[in-house]
This record gives sequence, C-alpha cells and structure tokens, in this order.
Amino acid sequence: MPSVMTQPVADGLTHSAIFLVVTLKPDAQGDEAVRTLCNNLAGILRAVGFRKPDRRLSCVMGFGSDAWDRLFGGARPAGLHPFREIKGVHHAVSTPGDILFHIRATHMDLCFEVAAEIMSRIGDFVAAEDEVHGFKYFDERDLLGFVDGTENPVDQAALDATIIGSEDPAFAGGSYVIVQKYLHDMKAWNAVPVEQQENIIGRKKLSDVEIDDAAKASYAHNVLTSIEENGEELEILRDNMPFGNAGKGEFGTYFIGYARSPSRIERMLENMFIGNPPGNYDRLLDFSRAVTGSLFFVPSATFLENVPAHKGDAGA
Ligand code: HEM
Repeated sequence: MPSVMTQPVADGLTHSAIFLVVTLKPDAQGDEAVRTLCNNLAGILRAVGFRKPDRRLSCVMGFGSDAWDRLFGGARPAGLHPFREIKGVHHAVSTPGDILFHIRATHMDLCFEVAAEIMSRIGDFVAAEDEVHGFKYFDERDLLGFVDGTENPVDQAALDATIIGSEDPAFAGGSYVIVQKYLHDMKAWNAVPVEQQENIIGRKKLSDVEIDDAAKASYAHNVLTSIEENGEELEILRDNMPFGNAGKGEFGTYFIGYARSPSRIERMLENMFIGNPPGNYDRLLDFSRAVTGSLFFVPSATFLENVPAHKGDAGA
C-alpha cells in the first residue's frame, strides 16, 4: 500500500470540541471553495495551532454520501451511504449533513478560531445545519453522571478499529464517522435510583467499575454495544462530548463514533434502538432523544491535500 497520511481520527480525547455540520447550497462556485478548503485545511491548522502547540489542535473533515459524488465524483468509498434512520422502540433520525468538521483542542479558543476560519472561506456557499460546542465535564463524565469513554481502544487498537486498510485499497487511510446529537430528560433520569442507572449503563456510577458480566442486565448499554464477528470484538472509537444550554434547560451528549466500517456502528445502533433480541432495547434511550443523525466518510489527509480545484481534474 502506498503510504498515506491519515486525518487525526485517533488523536485522542481533548477538553473542548466543536462539531460543525453544514450542507452545500446549489452553487458550483461553492463546490470549488470547498475543494480549495480541502487543500488548505492543514495550513489553517498549522497557522492557528502553531502558536499554542501544547493545546493539541486538530480537525477531521468528513463528507456525506451525496456531497462525495457532487464534490469529487468518480470512485466511492465502499461503505459510504446516507445515514439510515432506525425506527425501533425508539427512533434514530437521519438528518441532513454534507460536511462534518470535528474540531478538537484542549481549549475552546483554538476550536472557535478554526471554525471561524473555515466559515470565512465557505460560509457563503453552505448552510450550517448544526454547531455544537462540547466540553469535558468532571472526571470525564457525561451529563448523566457516568464516566464516558473508558473502554475506548487506544494506540494501535484505536487505529485498527478506525482506519481502512486493504479491504478498500483505493480509500485506505480513510475512516467512517457517525454523529448523533442526544438531548437528555434530566428530570426523569434523576428520578431513577442510582442502582437502576448503573444497570442501564452496565458500570458503577461513582467508581466507573464495570458490573460483572453475570450480574449485568441484558439491556445494559455496554452489553448492547459489544458486538463480535467470528469471535472477535468489533471496536469503534468514540469521542462523545457533553453540551448544554442551562437557560434553555438543554442537557445533551454529542455522540461521535469512528470506525473502519459503518456497519459496526450501525449494528450497535440497531441493538440500542430496536433491541437484541428485538424489544430488549437500550433504556438509556428512554431518557435520551436523538435529534440528529448523519454518516460521513473521512478521506485520508493525503486525499484532501490532492483534491483538484476543479471537479474531474486529475488528482482526486
Ligand atoms: C446518549 C448517548 C450515549 C451516552 C450518554 C453513552 C454513554 C456511555 C457510557 C457512560 C459508557 C461506559 C463507559 C465507556 O466505556 O465509555 C459507554 C460505553 C459504550 N458506548 Fe455509549 N453512550 C451513548 C451512545 C452510544 C452510541 C450511539 C453508541 C454506538 C452506536 C455507543 C457505543 C458505546 C460503546 C461501544 C461502549 C463501550 C462498551 C464496552 O465495550 O464496554 N454509545 N457509553
């Protein structure tokens, strides 16, 4: 395989993030601006990040299925398709999204600077569908009070879980990402006794210790999201972030999951929303409503650098 640079998919958790999802307006001039941004993103990150190298600034850029064809044409990543809604016990909605920017840093100032720089270049040609500013909460907890991210793969295991290899050689070095914005009913959740909350998550709330397999509920979140193929666990990399608006009473979790194939995230979602077996669904969803849902392909950094300004020109 020729050596390709990946985007910073597995660069690790940070304390701040902006999740920016935009759709393209019907304007070919705008497509050119986006293609030029693909080339310039690395330079923007260098310019903003160099001043504060310890703040670990990074940005991942992903493309929805229709946007991929419109912007680049030609070959398509094998697993790329629009996010499929799931109508089970609960509803996983599918919402518009052509491009995702997942901007991370230890501090929000750098994230905001990059988001503003991106929008100054493409803002006239896109509609911002959703922008969420995520923060880390005490002890890496989500707003439901549980530590979130403990069982994430790290180092080589994180790369193995997320980066496409020989299964799709033309797109090796790429990845897939699914995002969903969840709003929590905190009043209802806080009325649930802690022991039952722990059964729902499958871990202890204060200590974050995993409940013994034999004692776990069959509907525990970490049972329904543990999936296997040929006896091997299929992992994904999550970088969920709490977000909220105290004045509006909004308390949320922004779910973001990377994987080398979208099907593993989709299987987890089916287990959660429909249940495994059907009906044995994730009780987390009784208190958490998915209000967005989109799937993106994350090409390699090498691909982004080589996108030609005009669609169809050699290089992409
Ligand atoms: C409301 C949204 C969600 C919340 C608050 C949430 C919270 C949590 C928490 C607290 C844990 C246990 C600690 C850890 O290992 O990280 C966990 C584990 C996990 N979650 Fe979620 N999660 C959410 C949505 C999702 C979704 C949509 C998926 C996949 C489609 C998912 C996949 C996983 C996986 C794979 C694990 C690790 C299971 C294990 O191997 O033990 N989560 N989540």
